[in-house]
Amino acid sequence: MHKITTAKLKEMKKNKQKITLLSAYDYLTARLAESAGIEGILVGDSLGMVVLGYENTLPVTMEEMLHHTKAVSRGAKLPLIIADMPFLSYQADLKDALYNAGKLIKEGGAQAVKLEGGREIQETITKMVSSGMPVMGHLGLTPQSIHQLGGYKIQGKNQKEAQKIIDEAKILEESGIFSLILECVPRELAKTIAESLSIPVIGIGAGEFCDGQIQVFHDLVGLCGEFTPKHAKRYLNLSSEIKNALIKYKEEVAQGTFPQKENSF
Ligand code: KIV
Repeated sequence: MHKITTAKLKEMKKNKQKITLLSAYDYLTARLAESAGIEGILVGDSLGMVVLGYENTLPVTMEEMLHHTKAVSRGAKLPLIIADMPFLSYQADLKDALYNAGKLIKEGGAQAVKLEGGREIQETITKMVSSGMPVMGHLGLTPQSIHQLGGYKIQGKNQKEAQKIIDEAKILEESGIFSLILECVPRELAKTIAESLSIPVIGIGAGEFCDGQIQVFHDLVGLCGEFTPKHAKRYLNLSSEIKNALIKYKEEVAQGTFPQKENSF
């Protein structure tokens, strides 16, 4: 198996091969993703909500992203590793944006970064790409703008909103992104965009016509309690399996049936 590159993902789109990406945040999950043949791991800023217990993704810091990007890149060598740029690490200042993206690649071991937004980050993307840093775009539901969007809602439902996303997808492609994430948009809109761009369009809640899919690891394996977002599929119910194991462990310690001789030295 060879290292997955941005060029490989583009080739997969050309050959009509679907791409599978996963949001993951640690060494062990990265190893599992690699062993399952997943093409790319996004160290998403969903880290904030899934692992760090924040209410949304806004509080996530560069230090936290760097810490988890390092862990993922230690765990997986073959998948393309993409690090999310956290809120305010790229919006306020071009120089800071370049420095922070560089840090995630140079120190974190990522091979690409992801930024949320459209025409307002065009210059930033162009500069990153011309400095040799592959950039993934993210349109539709962009969680870092949650307060402006007024909640986690489907985007691009009316003609005006849909056209804006189509136009911004084109702008991002022209700015040099190697791939685009479309989050929570109607499937027909995602189809139009995937067909009109030459780069891979990866969907989450964007339907089956995308060139690939991305999901959050914890949603797929049922590690987020009872709630599963509509766009995800729960392949396992790990929360309850783990809880049952921990209850059993506690019972056995309390009853003195663990450890046994074979667990001792
Ligand atoms: O942070 C994240 O995991 C993401 C994906 C859901 C696309 O941005």
